[in-house]
Amino acid sequence: DSVLPPGAADTFARARRVVVFTGAGMSAESGVPTFRDDLTGLWARFDAHRLATPEAFDDDPDLVWGWYEWRRARVRKAQPNAGHAAVAAIEAARPGTVVVTQNVDDLHERAGSRAPIHLHGSLFAPRCLAGHPADPPPDDADADLDDGRRMSPPRCTRCGALVRPGVVWFGEALPEAALAAAYEAATTCDVLLTVGTSGVVYPAAEIPRVAARAGATVIQINPEPTPLDAVCAINIRASAAQALPALAITLGD
Ligand code: APR
Repeated sequence: DSVLPPGAADTFARARRVVVFTGAGMSAESGVPTFRDDLTGLWARFDAHRLATPEAFDDDPDLVWGWYEWRRARVRKAQPNAGHAAVAAIEAARPGTVVVTQNVDDLHERAGSRAPIHLHGSLFAPRCLAGHPADPPPDDADADLDDGRRMSPPRCTRCGALVRPGVVWFGEALPEAALAAAYEAATTCDVLLTVGTSGVVYPAAEIPRVAARAGATVIQINPEPTPLDAVCAINIRASAAQALPALAITLGD
């Protein structure tokens, strides 16, 4: 029995210009925690305002840098799941597919996605407070990074300013070029897959709504209801690793 509701396979098989819009649920089956799932979500266990704002970093750089390095170590130890692999297969079957992700992990890239648009930055692209790109610290593989470990952020080799995580914090603007490219893709696609996002954080959450308004068929993959139920033509109540492979095979070779 297919995980896909009636019509989903046919609709997706007809897609010519696809956008895949992903959130934290995309990486849940890789063991990377989401943000808002009850109990397991990061914001249920940590205070976003103490860890994910510019003020938090100014106030306690070691706490914030240590927490992001803990998250980065967890991502490094994780593997892309069947959903990430299916997204790469969709890109191969439909050249021109655009992947827009809210995730700051590198699992899409490690699964073969060429150039995902990172609306909220990346754990692997730190920069200094003056904006100079910096390298992530070397991977000390045996680092038993517990989630409370404080670590002093490195200093920029060019200007000496503190290096900060390359992610978009609450209250910060999204990278303009990334957001513009995401809007462009959403307004020109004929199918937008929204996968594993609660659809509550703007402006990223605008992307599926922009696609729907532009006449695209929005297909949602999420085990739970979300506000995006209202804009999706097809709603797949399943996980990313279950539903994406079922959709990818409809594209044939
Ligand atoms: N497959 C698909 N969806 C899943 C899975 C799964 N295996 N597991 C959980 N989900 C769904 C949840 O039902 C939820 O709707 O993924 C969604 C995760 O929602 P959030 O935790 O809110 O993550 P996201 O929508 O990506 O958050 C957006 O908020 O905190 C900020 O910057 C952060 O990028 C993040 C943004």
